[in-house]
Amino acid sequence: MPSRYRAKLINSLSGFKSANLIGSQNSKGETNLALFSSVVHIGASPALVGFISRPHTVVRDTLENILQTKQFTVNQVNKETWRSAHQTSARYNADESEFEQTGLTPLYVDNIDVPFVKESHLKYALTLEEIVPIAANDTQLVIGKVTDIFCQPTAIRKDGYIDIESIDTVSISGLDSYHVSRRLSRLSYAKKDKQLEHITIDGDRVSK
Ligand SMILES: Cc1cc2nc3c(=O)[nH]c(=O)nc-3n(C[C@H](O)[C@H](O)[C@H](O)COP(=O)(O)O)c2cc1C
Repeated sequence: MPSRYRAKLINSLSGFKSANLIGSQNSKGETNLALFSSVVHIGASPALVGFISRPHTVVRDTLENILQTKQFTVNQVNKETWRSAHQTSARYNADESEFEQTGLTPLYVDNIDVPFVKESHLKYALTLEEIVPIAANDTQLVIGKVTDIFCQPTAIRKDGYIDIESIDTVSISGLDSYHVSRRLSRLSYAKKDKQLEHITIDGDRVSK
């Protein structure tokens, strides 16, 4: 297959993916922001989140910066920021900040030396925990430990579930298609020999 066709076809196979901007900074203080669709939950306790970084055959500013400072932020993309988020995937030089290029606003919080995206409604800081090389294709799984979470409080429901639909988080299919979501329902914890029940957005049983 022609390589671009193949990339689009194969990138569609895994379904809807998360849309996140990773914020980082090198030891000279130059900021970087880049779009990643491979951010994935690794585990809850300890709280670990990872992402796949493409082969290090060209300069990968996000990876370089994380190796230098051991910190990064993950910022969910929403209905207001998806176009600017996509633009961050352009190949800018290390001394050209994607924040300036796209108009997204860097936000700094005490004791965290890497930028968040102000416009993101759910964002968190991580410290580098582990980099797992994937020999099959020279990519790397970069794993961070979540240290601080910033979220619109109304989106965090009674049982801890974050209603990311209410903060207009978007998802990605393929390499260039952006989507809003529509929840079907939340469901009760699945158990053998027990019928599933619909539960409310707060995790309560739906009264009959
Ligand atoms: C929709 C979309 C998803 C992407 N997901 C990833 C990804 O998961 N991993 C990756 O290494 N690059 C991904 N990229 C490419 C990066 O955004 C792009 O290479 C960017 O320039 C990296 O910036 P950096 O060199 O500043 O780290 C994606 C691009 C797009 C448009």
